[in-house]
Amino acid sequence: DRSIKIAPSILSADFANFGGEIRAIEAQGCDWVHVDVMDGHFVPNLTFGPPLCQAIRPHVTTVMDVHLMIAPVDPYIDAFAEAGADIITAHPEAGPHTHRTLQAIRATGAKAGIALNPGTPVEAAEYLLDLCDLVLVMTVNPGFGGQKFIASQLDKIRKLRAMIGDRPIHLQVDGGITPETAPLVVEAGADVLVAGSGVFKGGSVDNPEVYGENIRAI
Ligand code: DX5
Ligand code: ZN
Repeated sequence: DRSIKIAPSILSADFANFGGEIRAIEAQGCDWVHVDVMDGHFVPNLTFGPPLCQAIRPHVTTVMDVHLMIAPVDPYIDAFAEAGADIITAHPEAGPHTHRTLQAIRATGAKAGIALNPGTPVEAAEYLLDLCDLVLVMTVNPGFGGQKFIASQLDKIRKLRAMIGDRPIHLQVDGGITPETAPLVVEAGADVLVAGSGVFKGGSVDNPEVYGENIRAI
């Protein structure tokens, strides 16, 4: 199913009201909810862990898509699965054995994703695709919302789309997705678009229609 999905990143939501924010974006038509987990080590920012995922889980009626920017990643896979993650995505730089990491994610029953940083070549995913339900192309350096889209990644998206072929693997993009960049990544072959500031800017739980307008504009 190549219909385009929008996955708002709650990194740009009101941290004091995740439940309300998630209900608002889902009511406004988002497809997945993207959760950015950062450890202040693999990336220069700290966000949240399994207890927060568990707390928001009852508010997510779509798909809880958990992007782990943590190293090491293996010791935490079971905890995020038990917290209710539907999809768990890890970076190959987050441990020496990415093949085993993806196997461990699938063993929990969650779907497995691999995330490629802007400097990471497509070949990093080549021999892992049979263990992947999703490949994530980072279109910014991970760590913060609101950064500028890195256009060189369009070529990587195209190469990965060809590499994936007809396998049932989502090709997700994350970082700097706006109404200007979204058509470029879709044309290159992406089918799941993460957007933080692009969805949440200008809106609030008291003014959620803006979220809907932002989602439809992407
Ligand atoms: C970056 C995160 C992204 C980020 C996207 O490290 O993985 O999900 O929140 O934010 P925007 O859409 O604002 O670039
Ligand atoms: Zn992310």
